[in-house]
Amino acid sequence: MIEIKVEDAREISRRKFLRRLSLWSGAFAASLVAVPFAGALLDPLLRDDTGTWRAVGRADDFVVGSTNMVVFTNTDPKPYGGVVQKTAAWLRREKEDHFIAFSANCTHLGCPVRWEEKAHLFMCPCHGGVYNQEGDVAAGPPPQPLRRYEVRIRAGNVEVKTAPVPLTDLTAAERLCDQSSNT
Ligand code: FES
Repeated sequence: MIEIKVEDAREISRRKFLRRLSLWSGAFAASLVAVPFAGALLDPLLRDDTGTWRAVGRADDFVVGSTNMVVFTNTDPKPYGGVVQKTAAWLRREKEDHFIAFSANCTHLGCPVRWEEKAHLFMCPCHGGVYNQEGDVAAGPPPQPLRRYEVRIRAGNVEVKTAPVPLTDLTAAERLCDQSSNT
């Protein structure tokens, strides 16, 4: 018959306890990393990207033929989002009952474009991108026309349908980095 001394039994149970403690601490530490990581991976699948209508002003406040900047909250605001959950568009009242909204972000690398009333052009200050009044590229590096938002009028309010701004031309960003590192 095998005799286990009291000292040995204590040593074994202490080892068991320490092993379990280290396993649980490891699992806890792994969950601290895994939960936010899984959340970031799943977020695009769970997010509602179908857009949200946002009121940007009374229709009567916009003069026919004018192009004005409007600011609104983006598609998927977060409680901690602060000012970065605001986005902007250039809204033009084409006719009494017809509005067009252009994204304020250049399709090259996303800089905010400004409307030049006298020239009837959208100008990008970053790399000289120019768009005509329809938002088509007139000069410079932008690869695509300005994106447009859907617009509707409801109860006298102009509403813009939010949409995520797609990633801009990242290859252009790489080219610019390469150019600046070679100079
Ligand atoms: S970001 Fe507008 S031209 Fe480059």
